[in-house]
Amino acid sequence: MSIYQLFAAKGPSGFGYGSTAEQVTAGLSLQGRTILVTGCNSGLGLETMRVLALRGARVAGTARTREKAETACKSVKGETLPFACELSDPASVNACIAAVKTAGLKLDAIICNAGIMALPKLEKAYGYEQQFFTNHIGHFILVTGLLDQLTESGRVVMLSSDLHARAPKGGIEFDNLDGSKGYDGWKNYAQSKFANVLFAKELARRFNGTKKTANAVHPGVIATNLGRHMNPIVWSLYSALAPLFLKTVPQGAATEVYVATSPALDGVSGEYFADCNVAKARRDTSDATLAKRLWEVSGKIVSELPTIP
Ligand SMILES: NC(=O)c1ccc[n+]([C@@H]2O[C@H](COP(=O)([O-])OP(=O)(O)OC[C@H]3O[C@@H](n4cnc5c(N)ncnc54)[C@H](OP(=O)(O)O)[C@@H]3O)[C@@H](O)[C@H]2O)c1
Repeated sequence: MSIYQLFAAKGPSGFGYGSTAEQVTAGLSLQGRTILVTGCNSGLGLETMRVLALRGARVAGTARTREKAETACKSVKGETLPFACELSDPASVNACIAAVKTAGLKLDAIICNAGIMALPKLEKAYGYEQQFFTNHIGHFILVTGLLDQLTESGRVVMLSSDLHARAPKGGIEFDNLDGSKGYDGWKNYAQSKFANVLFAKELARRFNGTKKTANAVHPGVIATNLGRHMNPIVWSLYSALAPLFLKTVPQGAATEVYVATSPALDGVSGEYFADCNVAKARRDTSDATLAKRLWEVSGKIVSELPTIP
């Protein structure tokens, strides 16, 4: 138990910092529901898939490769279906979309959980900075490609981070999406997580008048493989102190599982959640013009990609 957990109060939802994914779904049957989770082979995604399947959901688990997805799916009890989805490769994302459609899956929720953080050096995919491309564009392709598979009251959950607040002034550097005018691993991670919030809010606006919802979440701070690109000394300290100061993986998975499944959130859309409660995101994530612009720029980026059929 972390020291912080001893003092953290529960919020209006009845859950809080210390709640686990099992606790936020206690007594809830997800029989008959199908939920897609990206990045199902590690950290929060694996725990999310485990708990959703435990509650009776059929979970479509995606990982960079079919092998990774299969191994992860086999490691949890319940009904799981493995899919390959390498988010930095649009052909792989499109193949995943096609496979989900071919399997005839109607999705009650899509949890965009996969992500990379703080790459020390500028890396690119298709000419764009890698974290923006993987965390945002990859999920943009996946979700927009699967919109027809969402059920009438389907939910989209975007994994963001409180670090979105450290995104550049203006939120998104539209004139520097390739990183050529400056790159900082943390700032660019923050920008990609800012994009995840904007995407959820714009999607929520596009869902207006329907029962579908889109929200973004901050899972907390948890020592997972996400820290693989951190300075090794900082990472060792971070991991060593994790039991005292950070959330556990079951606690970290709670908010995404809660937002994807809680009956209390029927119709709740366009929000940012932390510790299983509505929280405040940086003010300019609510800038509808900015969110619309990101959507349009993302659509243009995708339409110009060479591998998109
Ligand atoms: N942990 C935290 O403290 C924290 C805080 C705030 C937000 N988050 C967010 O929570 C989410 C889950 O992170 P985590 O902590 O569970 O990290 P994790 O253990 O590193 O899991 C990340 C998952 O994303 C997958 N992934 C990475 N790059 C991918 C790509 N190009 N294509 C497809 N999948 C890819 C990874 O696959 P591989 O294993 O094959 O690389 C892995 O399954 C992320 O979106 C992260 O930004 C985490």
